[in-house]
Amino acid sequence: MQLLAKLSATTLFLQELVNCPRQVGAILPSSKNLATAMARWLPTDSDAYALELGPGTGVVTQALLERGLREDRLVAIEKSPKMAHHLRNRFPRARIITGDAFELDSLLKMHLPSAHNIGVVFSSLPLLNIEPETADRLARKIRAVLQSKGKLVQYSYHLGNKQPKAAAHFSYLASDRIWLNLPPARVSVYQK
Ligand SMILES: C[S@@+](CC[C@H](N)C(=O)[O-])C[C@H]1O[C@@H](n2cnc3c(N)ncnc32)[C@H](O)[C@@H]1O
Repeated sequence: MQLLAKLSATTLFLQELVNCPRQVGAILPSSKNLATAMARWLPTDSDAYALELGPGTGVVTQALLERGLREDRLVAIEKSPKMAHHLRNRFPRARIITGDAFELDSLLKMHLPSAHNIGVVFSSLPLLNIEPETADRLARKIRAVLQSKGKLVQYSYHLGNKQPKAAAHFSYLASDRIWLNLPPARVSVYQK
């Protein structure tokens, strides 16, 4: 990404942070290190879809494409209309849905009824402050759209060993601390 484009993406991120701090839930876009650590978990099946929740200005999205994901196999759900608009310009062949990731089941039915083979879900949603029942409902919905053995890859700023709220519905695969991010983050990986 060129410097000017990167600056304008960061400016958009900061504007949205000022407008809706709880929704954005981070002081800066993810670092390249964090995005690369997420993208490592992309499945090798080139026909499978990847679903991204809370893509923001597209740092993780870009890492997924650099790792080999076909742009037409990327589906993303972003709540901020301005960020979704930015992503549509940046990734014109991807399916960018403006909406609430907690409604992912109905959004996918409406916008991409043919996407039965979702191999992986990448989540950047700020989940630390949500009610356990809401997190539980989201985890069930993610599990329901994933194909057999599909993965959930999510990051959080919780560095301890406490299991994230989605854990109950998945088998735990791996987790990794990423220190080169502001703030440092943990990537956790689960399998259906
Ligand atoms: C911490 S930022 C991460 C952005 C980007 N993935 C990154 O790594 O830089 C969280 C993003 O999730 C979006 N978001 C928050 N709640 C959401 C929801 N319920 N549905 C969809 N997107 C949501 C925010 O608008 C924001 O873009």
